[in-house]
Amino acid sequence: MKKFLFALTALAMVACSTAPQMSKEEKEAFKFADKLIKKMTLQEKIGQLQQFVTGKGVVTGPDGEKRNIEEAIRQGTVGSFLNIYSTEEYIHLQKIAVEESRLGIPLIFGFDIIHGCRIQFPENLASSCSWDIEGIEHSARIAAEESAAMGIHWTFSPMCDVSADPRWGRVSEGSGEDPYLGAKIAAAMVRGYQGDDLSSDKTVAACVKHFAAYGVPQAGRDYHTVDMSELMFRNRYLPPYKAAIEAGAVTAMSSFNDFMGVPASGNKWLMHTLLREELGFTGFVVSDYAAVHEMIKHGTAADGKDAAYQSMNAHLNMDMVRGDYIAFGEELVKEGKVSEKTINMLCREVLAVKYRLGLFDDPFKYGRQNQDEVVYRPENLEFAREVAAKSMVLLTNNGVLPLNEGVKIALVGPLADSKRDQMGAWIGYGEAERSVTIREALEKRYGKSNVLYAKGSDFRAPIKGGIAEAVRAARKADVVLLSIGLSYKESGEATSLTEITVPEAQQELLDALKKTGKKIVVLLGTGRAMDIRNEVEKADAVLVTWHGGTMEGPAVADLVSGDKNPSGHLTMSFPYCVGQVPVHYNMKVTGRPRKSPTQKSKYISRYMYTPNEPLFPFGYGLSYSEFEYSDLQVLTPEVELGGVVKVSVKVANKGKYDGDDVAQLYVRDVVAETTRPMRELKGFERFSLKAGEEKVLTFEIPTSDLAYCHSDMSFKADAGEFKVWVGADSNAQLEGVFTLK
Ligand code: NOJ
Repeated sequence: MKKFLFALTALAMVACSTAPQMSKEEKEAFKFADKLIKKMTLQEKIGQLQQFVTGKGVVTGPDGEKRNIEEAIRQGTVGSFLNIYSTEEYIHLQKIAVEESRLGIPLIFGFDIIHGCRIQFPENLASSCSWDIEGIEHSARIAAEESAAMGIHWTFSPMCDVSADPRWGRVSEGSGEDPYLGAKIAAAMVRGYQGDDLSSDKTVAACVKHFAAYGVPQAGRDYHTVDMSELMFRNRYLPPYKAAIEAGAVTAMSSFNDFMGVPASGNKWLMHTLLREELGFTGFVVSDYAAVHEMIKHGTAADGKDAAYQSMNAHLNMDMVRGDYIAFGEELVKEGKVSEKTINMLCREVLAVKYRLGLFDDPFKYGRQNQDEVVYRPENLEFAREVAAKSMVLLTNNGVLPLNEGVKIALVGPLADSKRDQMGAWIGYGEAERSVTIREALEKRYGKSNVLYAKGSDFRAPIKGGIAEAVRAARKADVVLLSIGLSYKESGEATSLTEITVPEAQQELLDALKKTGKKIVVLLGTGRAMDIRNEVEKADAVLVTWHGGTMEGPAVADLVSGDKNPSGHLTMSFPYCVGQVPVHYNMKVTGRPRKSPTQKSKYISRYMYTPNEPLFPFGYGLSYSEFEYSDLQVLTPEVELGGVVKVSVKVANKGKYDGDDVAQLYVRDVVAETTRPMRELKGFERFSLKAGEEKVLTFEIPTSDLAYCHSDMSFKADAGEFKVWVGADSNAQLEGVFTLK
């Protein structure tokens, strides 16, 4: 039966489409910027829109142009730098800007603080598996404090790109396949970085990236084209960007990809209509690395001048790296192709952020702190250990874990003692020598003589005598901990893969160890979901340790010993095989759905020789305890639009260990105006229960969370029946029903 559609409450409509009111600070910042602009020459205004690398810092892309940086600062033809790796250099350059340029406008320094500054937290995909929003916010706060102490004003984070494609290496920097969870995490990271006071010397500006839809490149190949319906974009990909903007992020970054035919950096619909007019973003947008210039390669700009023309008019404020803005900006204004009004608008938005950071009051307050007091605080290292432990996901366990006390361990594999690899891809200010490896932590926990270490193999090539040495260690031990997976170089930007299995050399190592008959625990180090059928079949337990950051080793020791209980749950489905990719829990149903995983009829939506389902679904994760979910009750079987859906469920810890679990609530709009996902996450709660304890959890879902973008682009909820499920993963079976009136 066709349902009647309701527009959402005024509140939800506002969240969807109308710009929020400007705060007092914003108004004050724009007032300041407008006054300053009056004193600036055209060249100085365009200078504020140009960002360069110094050539001495970290290079994260092609540049190749030599320029006299210091002279450019004096002339006011540059307003920002990125990825400088030295506090002294920050202070030196800022001094030139403030003391030797005509108007003394301070520079803004950006850096990729992706998952920590000095202390590296687990890669972002990993920490999302903790489902610990407060913990993620606190990690971002620690990263901000450390960054500000180094002299950094602005982090290029959070990455809000939803992605379900593990071929794409940058899934490691995101929060997985779900827009609802991704939105909660994006907002938490912005709050963590920016705090309540952007001008404090403990906070930094956040940057919503990569706007937009960078996580869906064709065939998982980085930088590749992105094309999808606006409906799909709005429902699945927009929510985390939107949440980060609503949380107050003061900058955004355009993505490398084209989006529905127009490169993002020249895409006025994205940069202006959607970001500014609809989402109410009042900060500034920086391009990604050379992305303005790359429009030439995209084939939509004739040359650098044309690229600058398109980007400026699209409302992209700052040109990262190649220099097309400063090279051609004045000419474009003189020729009437870009109005001075546009330049003023772009410039005032940059100046306002500099003002809000407090840089006009005190350009040197970042980097002045006593770094020894701020970085590597023992309590923060301890916190990183906790985050890493909460992020790890136990996928299988036949009882081998936790290990018995007094056990003799053979520790094998290329990730077992690699300080750099465990930190993950892009670590910016991280220092590998500060990492505590699995080997170091296990030796401390069990005693050196009880841990027999052998590397066994490199990531993609055998090492001479490696397997024999590992087998000897295994024979002397009670259990093998095999730390295998992908290296840090196989995670992050430009690391697309078409094979997502553990590399062959390491599989050979596993096979040889298996023949010893010893119990094997695979510790899977990775920045992406993988096809791990082989490891699951051969190992007695599989614990995904990810690239767990500075404190990965102690976190692994905590878990394998049972000092802590695993509690992470996947935020990205682990596919059965690469051919299923993208495979995610919130796929649409189709008109010919398969009724059960075993249904064999011909004309249904299925693979001939492969299951439709991933090997491990979104939300999945085991514990040493057994959590039982029962007695789901829909407390509000009928809910008025604008009301709150209430659902309760009993959870009980039936096992021998105290532990945490993540209860997840999914809904399905039974008859909708457009096709909808099979299930959608709409609530979750991380809870703790002692062994034998039980309690009742109550979820409250505002009906505004049931709204979605319809075929006419209106954002509203459908009246009618909804199914609801609660459980410990996206296959949750406890079911209820409610009706939206
Ligand atoms: C390119 C990456 O796509 C982006 O995420 C990063 O912030 C910039 N390089 C700067 O390093």
